[in-house]
Amino acid sequence: MLTIIDHPLVQHKLTLLRRSKTTTGEFRRLAREISLLLGYEVLRDLPLEPITITTPLEDMQAVQVQGKKLCFISILRAGEGILDGMLDLVPAARVGHVGLYRDPATHEPVEYYFKVPDALEERLTIVLDPMLATGHSAIAAVTRLKQAGAKSIKFVCLIASPEGVAAFQAAHPEIPIFAAGLDRQLDDHAYIRPGLGDAGDRFFGTK
Ligand code: URA
Repeated sequence: MLTIIDHPLVQHKLTLLRRSKTTTGEFRRLAREISLLLGYEVLRDLPLEPITITTPLEDMQAVQVQGKKLCFISILRAGEGILDGMLDLVPAARVGHVGLYRDPATHEPVEYYFKVPDALEERLTIVLDPMLATGHSAIAAVTRLKQAGAKSIKFVCLIASPEGVAAFQAAHPEIPIFAAGLDRQLDDHAYIRPGLGDAGDRFFGTK
């Protein structure tokens, strides 16, 4: 249930993204490009249905994506950094947001924002968070989305840690994870090593 997208362009762009000398503008552009390429792989099994269309020359049997518009869920705030590339690929997709912070006492994720499209149970739901580190936010977000009705869910990140993957798979074993890279470990501050630092800070130019 873990797929590392090993396309050479994804891997090349991920290398550029990781480098500390990559500027905020370049980081944003690269994250957008990588997420578009990830999206292409993540959505390769979208079901199609037949449709009759008219070309300038004749009618033909063509195909279109079946069912309700799919839905991207951005886990705030870093999820925003890989949303635009996905929307480049699927401009008509619906978008939801989940905001979670870590309770300083319990270290458990606490929800502060939740807004998702209707009829979630009829939509493919793609959850976006660039760093699968401890897995706590991803697990809590997916649990909440299931409560809201989501039935068909995929999780997409740029970089995963082995610890995050194990925790996520223990909590949601049926949900596929797609990543551009699987790194060595989490450090004592829950950063992924070697990683790319704080994804939110690098997307938004904050510290
Ligand atoms: N979140 C980040 O932005 N980076 C990490 O390495 C871990 C969590």
